[in-house]
Order: sequence, then C-alpha cells, then structure tokens
Amino acid sequence: MNYQYNYQRYLASKKQIDDLALNKRVLDTLSAKLDRKASGPPIKIIEIGAGIGTMVERLLETNIIPSADYTAFDISRSNIEEAKERIISFAERSNYLIEIVGPYKFIITRGSFSLRLNLIDQDALEFIESAKGVQDTDLVIAQAVLDLLNLKQILPNIFSILKQDGLFYSSINFDGMTYFGPAIDDKFDSIIEDQYHQTMIDSRTGRHLLSLLVDSKWEILAAGSSDWMVYPSDSGYDENTSYFLHYIINTVYEALSTKSNINQVRLEAWINKRHEQVENNILQYIAHQSDYLATKGLANGK
Ligand SMILES: C[S@@+](CC[C@H](N)C(=O)[O-])C[C@H]1O[C@@H](n2cnc3c(N)ncnc32)[C@H](O)[C@@H]1O
Repeated sequence: MNYQYNYQRYLASKKQIDDLALNKRVLDTLSAKLDRKASGPPIKIIEIGAGIGTMVERLLETNIIPSADYTAFDISRSNIEEAKERIISFAERSNYLIEIVGPYKFIITRGSFSLRLNLIDQDALEFIESAKGVQDTDLVIAQAVLDLLNLKQILPNIFSILKQDGLFYSSINFDGMTYFGPAIDDKFDSIIEDQYHQTMIDSRTGRHLLSLLVDSKWEILAAGSSDWMVYPSDSGYDENTSYFLHYIINTVYEALSTKSNINQVRLEAWINKRHEQVENNILQYIAHQSDYLATKGLANGK
C-alpha cells in the first residue's frame, strides 16, 4: 500500500462521511433554533477544534446559520492554513463573495447574509478559560474533538461563555464501538477493537457527554446517533471513501504498533488484510457516535 497519510486530506475525506452520519433531528433542531435568531444582530459562534474548516462549509452549504461572527479555533497551524485555502475556494465556487480582511479573517457574503470568519491557531481551551463567564456567545460547536479533551473541565467553561439562550452543538462524539468486517478472526478482531479503544483518552465520550449534560445545568434539546456506517456501493468505493478507510486502518495500526501485548506479526497481517479489503471493495466499517444540542436550561428552570 503506497498511501501517503496526510491529516488534512483525511479531514477532507471525512467531510463526506460526516455529512451522511450527522444526526438530522439534531441538525434540524439547531436550524430551527437559529432561525429564531435570524431577525436580530449577527450571532456569535465559537468552534472548538475546527480542523480544516469543514463545519463552516457545511453550515454555509445548508444555510443553517444566520449572519454571524464565527471564530474557529484549531490548535494546529497546518489545519488553519488548510482551512484558509479551503474557505477561499469554497466561497468562490459557491457564489459567496469573500473579502479577505486579515491574514486569517474573512467576510463572506451573499445577499443580506454576512459571515465574519476568524480562523485562529490556538488552544480553544485556553481561549474558553480566558473568556469564562462572559455569557456573550450564541453557539459553541465541537465536532469530533471532545474525545481529545477533558469533558468535566471544559463543559462548565462552555456553559459560562454562552448567553442564557445560547446553544451547544456537539457532534460525532465517539462512543465505544468500532466494527471492521468481514471477519478475519473473530477473537483477534475483538482484541484489536478493545486494545484500540484503550489507546484513546476517552473511548466513550458519547455516553459520558450525555451523563454530564443530564447531571448538570444543561437542557438537552435534541440527541441522537451519528454512526459512521461505511460500506461499498455496487460500483465499489470512491477515491474519497477509500482514502478515509485506509487512513482509519492506519490509525489503528499506529495506535497498536508499539504495544508489547499485541503480537506485531499478527497485527501487520491483520492491517494488510484490512487494506486489501478496501481495495477489493468488501470492507465494512462502523464507528458508533452521538450528537447533542443543548442549552442552558432556561425552559425547565434547572
Ligand atoms: C478529529 S479532528 C476534527 C476536526 C473537525 N472538527 C472535523 O470534524 O473535521 C480534531 C481536531 O481538534 C483539534 N484540537 C485538539 N485539541 C484542541 C484544542 N485544545 N484546541 C483547539 N483544537 C484542538 C485538532 O488539531 C484536530 O484538528
């Protein structure tokens, strides 16, 4: 397998997979809530771990957000550089006007819609900590990132920067189940899954987030699963999905390749077989994930 594994390309390939997986009920509820804010001044949005900016694109593609000031944080400089390139070409091909007002600042407009976008390569946790208590944010977005962070620490800080009717949209929260098929060896397949999960900071972020939202002052407005379910179509895998799958398989390899409790010869054979299954258009892959939309609980007096 002669793949060059590149994180930004992986995030680009993930967009299409996420689009299919995102929970529609949760997104529709977000859309309805934001619709109510459309007649007011621009809303304030913060995104944590924005990667290469695919959520901004998604929200523009689906017209879900009203005019807004949108600050997208990612800790990686390369991701922010890629986000900059992508947003410029996205706007140009999608009939948005884009004005570049700073190295990483843009005003994106179409008709009466206007988005002031600021891309920042900074630890979002630091920013949220420094803004603690300001209560000026309408929407905080965190997709596929909370499993990398300390939930118990970050949730109260997110709560404290939101306005009283502010929204927290968190999607693609991994929740403890990975499946690769068809089976190679049931027992070894399970060992790989189990050991892979053990390398994660929190392999059950989905349910832990649910518990924390329920047990604290938040009100959940919508929740649902957003599993990645990847399977070949009659014409096989397209290049994008194929890249995504190879990248995921390689991620499993990198996570386990230094573990002394795993037979490395067997691991390499297993990984090679999974790559082959992608090339032969027979691999199936599921990752269980969940999405939430929550607010500060004004309605139920929590
Ligand atoms: C799995 S990626 C998801 C990216 C994007 N949300 C998406 O769904 O495509 C997680 C991202 O979070 C970023 N990240 C991790 N910790 C962070 C932090 N403390 N502050 C800002 N970004 C962070 C990483 O650099 C990475 O781009």
